[in-house]
This record gives sequence, C-alpha cells and structure tokens, in this order.
Amino acid sequence: MEKYEIAVIPGDGIGQEVVPAAIRVLEVAADLHGGLAFKWTHFPWNCEYYLQHGHMMPEDGIATLRGFDQIFLGAVGLPQSVPDHISLWGLLIKIRREMKQAINVRPAKLLRGLQSPLREPNDFDLIVVRENSEGEYSEIGGRIHSGADQMAIQNAVFTRKGTERAMRYAFELAKSRRNHVTSATKSNGISHSMPFWDDVFKDVRSGYGVTDTASIHIDALAAFFVMKPHMFDVIVASNLFGDILTDLGGAIMGSIGIAPAANLNVEREYPSMFEPVHGSAPDIAGKGIANPIGQIWTGKMMLDFLGFGEIGQLILDAIEDTLSAGIKTPDLGGRATTGEMTDAILQHLRKR
Ligand code: NAD
Ligand code: IPM
Ligand code: MN
Repeated sequence: MEKYEIAVIPGDGIGQEVVPAAIRVLEVAADLHGGLAFKWTHFPWNCEYYLQHGHMMPEDGIATLRGFDQIFLGAVGLPQSVPDHISLWGLLIKIRREMKQAINVRPAKLLRGLQSPLREPNDFDLIVVRENSEGEYSEIGGRIHSGADQMAIQNAVFTRKGTERAMRYAFELAKSRRNHVTSATKSNGISHSMPFWDDVFKDVRSGYGVTDTASIHIDALAAFFVMKPHMFDVIVASNLFGDILTDLGGAIMGSIGIAPAANLNVEREYPSMFEPVHGSAPDIAGKGIANPIGQIWTGKMMLDFLGFGEIGQLILDAIEDTLSAGIKTPDLGGRATTGEMTDAILQHLRKR
C-alpha cells in the first residue's frame, strides 16, 4: 500500500465547495485501486484567516507544507474584503515560488459529452506549459511621482535558466504526444524580453532535432485558439501569456470551471501543488452550483504525477461519461448542483 500525505488548502469562495467534492472522488479512486491511500490534512489559510490574523498563512506555513508529499489547493481570493495582490502573493504565489514550482501544466481538450462554444472545434487536445516562477510576475517596480505625473513601473524578469526550463519541459512533453511545440512570443512589440525568449527557444529547439515547432505572436495565437485549436499540441508560454491562454483554453472546452492545472516542482525536491485554472468565483460562491470538474481533473493530474496514471484516466473517463449522460452544472448550460455532478461522477467511476 502506498500512502501519500496531502496538504489541503480549500481557500476561498468555491474552493471550499469543489475541494471536498474532488477529495470524495480521489478517495473512491484510491479504494478502487486498492494499493493507494491518502491522508488529507486541512489548512484554513484563506482571506478569512487573513482578516483574523493579518497574514494569509502562519510564519512557519511554508516549512509545514514542505513536510507533505503534495498540496491540493482550491482557489484564493475574496476581492471585496482583501486586495488580490495581498491574498495571492501571501499564499498562492508564495507557495509556487518557495516550493520552486516553476512549471505550470494546463491541458485543454474537447471532452466527450460537452459542446464547445466553437463552431468547428474539431478534436483539439493541447497542453499549455506555463513558465510559473518569473516573467511578467515580478516584484520589481513601484510608483513614482505624484499627481498628474504619477506612474507605476513593473519590470519583467526572464532568466535563461527559467526560460530554458519551461521550454525543455515542453519539448520533453511533446515527445510523448504529437511532437509539436509552439512558442508564444511577442517579439514584435516587447523589445527585450521577447527577442530573448525567441533566442532561447531557438537554442533549446536545436537540441531536439525532429520536433516540429512554430513561434507565434500571442495575439495571433489567441485568435488561433478560437479558430483552429486543433493545430496545437504543446504550447510554451511566459507566465502572463500562459495565464491568459489557459482561461481561453477552458473557455473553448466549454467553461473555465473544468480546466485543470498542476504547479510542478519537476525536480521533486519540494511538494508540487495541484490547483485548477479557475478562481474563487465570488459571483457563485455559496450557491452549491460550482462546477467541480476543474478540481476533480486537477486531482487526476495529481494521480498522474504520483505515478497512478491508469486510475487517473478512469477519473477522466468517468467525467466524460457523466457529461455524456447530460449531467451539467449551470456554467455548462445544465441544472445540476456541485453535489449532484460529483455523485454522478462517482457512480460512473465505480462502474469503470
Ligand atoms: P474566476 O475564475 O473566479 O471567475 C470567472 C468566472 O468564471 C466567474 O463568472 C465564475 O463564476 C466562473 N467560474 C469560475 N470557476 C467556476 C466553476 N468551477 N464553476 C462554474 N463557474 C466558474 O475569476 P475572477 O472572477 O477573475 O477571480 C475571482 C477571485 O479569484 C479573485 O480574487 C482572483 O484573484 C482569484 N483567482 C484565484 C485563482 C487561484 O487561486 N488559483 C485563480 C484565478 C483567480
Ligand atoms: C491562475 C491565477 C493566478 C495567476 C492569479 C490569481 C494570481 O489567475 O492561477 O491562473 O495569475 O497565476
Ligand atoms: Mn489565471
């Protein structure tokens, strides 16, 4: 029996609703496997915690998390009470950085039983590899002057190490897929970081002889996501471009509520963090109607990373069986609650 210690941070808003749903599914998956067990340890770190304690997590929070095999997180953010840059940099981004989770893997594919909003989605199946530790998300900058002359300056940081790491991950991933890598660039308008990004891409590409590649400006790439998503296999993107592309990836599948993600410490020196693409969705929080698929599919990505890909695949099959049976939450045009959809996924999982 292999047993894994998982730190659970449901976070804010619908994180509190979809995380328990996904844990139910992962528990049944572990039971079906027979040789796998989870021990879940919950941490109440979120914006309510911040309002009580003045910080998003205790001072030894990162040290505590280091003792776990993996982290399973819902979403963070209660923008009406705590400014987003405080809550996110105090928890989500802090964990990504301190645990060196430099790669964010975010798949998007046409699911059986789901209608894509695209007129001709064909059978797209892509993965965005998002650089997750630097780029446009930097703390360097500030506000200067005041009054009419006031300005904010924000520097982007692209290191050769960080850029190469994301690109190498993309090329390696492509080997087990259709061997095609697209680089999301913007070297026509962003005059330092993006030409550098292109140079590193050329260097990395030269080490992967047969892989088919393309380099496409992010604006055109966003349009191709809508017009021809089936042309993509693996896409490597900077932190911000990858962020934006992956909500779009969710949207072309049918809802951002189903898009999964994994923040990986590929070196396995620290825990990785499994957290869906979507946020805390304050507009629907507390109503019991959040789509749990993003969080459940994210759980499947955790199983894959732990080496239980077969049982992970059964979860995705059960999700598709459920959608094919017409069980859908309101974001997908249906009337099912979070609980009803989770029950249906569990039923289909047990039948597999
Ligand atoms: P969001 O993803 O929370 O919501 C955008 C829209 O998608 C909303 O209409 C929401 O109802 C819908 N939606 C999202 N997930 C859904 C689901 N599972 N089922 C059904 N509908 C779903 O994005 P936002 O509104 O920009 O952000 C809200 C808060 O979440 C902010 O505080 C933001 O900073 C935070 N956020 C956190 C994370 C994270 O912790 N990983 C990610 C994104 C946003
Ligand atoms: C995501 C989110 C975060 C990001 C925010 C909440 C800081 O949008 O995980 O996609 O931009 O990385
Ligand atoms: Mn995002």
